[in-house]
Amino acid sequence: MTASSAPAKVYLFGEHAVVYGEPAVPCAIERRARVTVERREDSQICVQANDLTLDGFTVTWGGNTDRRPDVDVPTPLVEAAMGYIEGAVDQALDAAGARGVGFDVTVESDIPLGAGIGSSAAVVVAGIDAATRELGTELDPETIADRAYRVEHGVQDGEASRADTFCSAMGGAVRIQGDDCRQLGDVPSIPFVIGYDGNTGDTRELVAGVRGLKEEYEFADDTVGAIGDIVRAGESALGDGRLEEIGRLMNFNHGLLSALGVSARSLDTMVWAAREAGALGAKLTGAGGGGCIVALDRSEQTRTALEYTPGCETAFRAELDTEGVRAER
Ligand code: PMV
Repeated sequence: MTASSAPAKVYLFGEHAVVYGEPAVPCAIERRARVTVERREDSQICVQANDLTLDGFTVTWGGNTDRRPDVDVPTPLVEAAMGYIEGAVDQALDAAGARGVGFDVTVESDIPLGAGIGSSAAVVVAGIDAATRELGTELDPETIADRAYRVEHGVQDGEASRADTFCSAMGGAVRIQGDDCRQLGDVPSIPFVIGYDGNTGDTRELVAGVRGLKEEYEFADDTVGAIGDIVRAGESALGDGRLEEIGRLMNFNHGLLSALGVSARSLDTMVWAAREAGALGAKLTGAGGGGCIVALDRSEQTRTALEYTPGCETAFRAELDTEGVRAER
């Protein structure tokens, strides 16, 4: 039996624009998905998921036992979850040069699913690491990130950037621009507060919406370029530890994402509640449409305010997690 964990992430800046070659800066946060795998005698994959938004399900596939999980969640979410795990197992078999090996897989995660904080990437990254080690092979985090990206790319029909998977595998704050992925050094401690509305956005649809606007209006194309400018300014503020400036830029970034049509009433409400509570800045994180916002606040005020905000299901603080994928006992 082998277990690994990998962190969730928030986008400090740059989601959506990263799809068109602009840079983005995601940051790993101290919330983890843990995946335990055990080699089976047969070639089936049996997945048990706990604590995810999926609220627990068991599903076995391979051989003659394929069946739909009996859970009260939207089928696309379950299908995506199974696709990610199957993809992680395939990558591990490929990396270890093994074939026809089955696994019992247990996923324990306290990362809300499909909410813009990288739950699927964390599961895939931890899954690849655990399954390869179970097969006696060790991969470095960059290789795990690359293999995890291939899984996300497949499941998301080519609409995924490398941001989530690289950030989850490496930890810390990272910079992504196309295939160029690097870790940012000397990053200050960042007081993240996350608000979650209990919903999920449809990443594919939201990405398609931005693409449509970009093709129709030159000013939408300029807006994507302006997000790139915010990311570049944000990177330099991050390097100097200027948190107030980072907060202002996050506010600006949220406004532009909103203009591109990817915010939602619940996300805007949480963003404003955070700002009014004294947060240095607040924005949606990830694809949008529903899910999470990220704010910066050293005090407890933003988290408390979010907890009393209608439409906010839960709010929590999370420090930057400098550790990426790691072996667990
Ligand atoms: O919602 P998430 O965490 O999957 O983020 C999506 C971010 C996008 O930029 C919209 C797409 C991508 O893969 O970068």
